[in-house]
Amino acid sequence: MLELRNVSYQIDNRKIIQEINLKIESGETIAVVGPSGSGKSTLFRLINNLISPTQGELYLNGDAYETINPEELRMEVSYLLQESDLFDRTIGDNLAFPANIRNDKFNRKRAKALLKAVGLGHYNFNTSVSHLSGGERQRITIARQLMYKPKILLLDEATSALDIHNSEKIESLIFKLADEGVSILWITHSNDQSMRHFQKRIRIVDGQIEKEEDLR
Ligand SMILES: Nc1ncnc2c1ncn2[C@@H]1O[C@H](COP(=O)(O)OP(=O)(O)OP(=O)(O)O)[C@@H](O)[C@H]1O
Ligand SMILES: [Mg+2]
Repeated sequence: MLELRNVSYQIDNRKIIQEINLKIESGETIAVVGPSGSGKSTLFRLINNLISPTQGELYLNGDAYETINPEELRMEVSYLLQESDLFDRTIGDNLAFPANIRNDKFNRKRAKALLKAVGLGHYNFNTSVSHLSGGERQRITIARQLMYKPKILLLDEATSALDIHNSEKIESLIFKLADEGVSILWITHSNDQSMRHFQKRIRIVDGQIEKEEDLR
């Protein structure tokens, strides 16, 4: 489904990503670990097509990235950023955003269900996100990201601001998507999380895959 062939990314003579080869199947769940500054988020930015490799190629279902319309690609490859990027309006405005950019009707029922699934069912759409805590904002961001089901979901420390109870809630929501065929790549610092449900773990060090482990 997704393939990286010999992908490098260089800025100012420094190779931040070095010759990465990786194949990801549909429904596969991969934990991405590695020290701070090793290139994990940069790898995700490449996979999300926010930046282009300075060497090598990426393919989605056999099509080279440069032949795919960037907007379409980003709808199939969804990237949940390291920091929450909600806009300071209401919860409803934020959850309606994915429909707006697609010129689609806001699915209020799905939004309600997702709000509940992330443990925020007690809020309504009119609540302003500026009043919410960091962890609550993070959970709204996750709900917004899941308004449409992507083919590949990239999560960058998506539960860093959450307590155990809420992390587990989010994990079960995410891994249910994997059962439905969504490929999951999840940058995580928590070893527990890596061990619990993932099929594979890759460790990035100095922009390279230092280790690829099968956890099944
Ligand atoms: N646009 C850029 N210009 C210069 N350097 C960059 C740029 N983007 C990333 N880097 C550098 O590349 C390295 C990898 O950054 P990246 O954000 O991918 O690390 P990371 O593994 O996600 O780290 P963390 O775990 O702290 O989030 C860092 O040293 C960073 O400073
Ligand atoms: Mg990062």
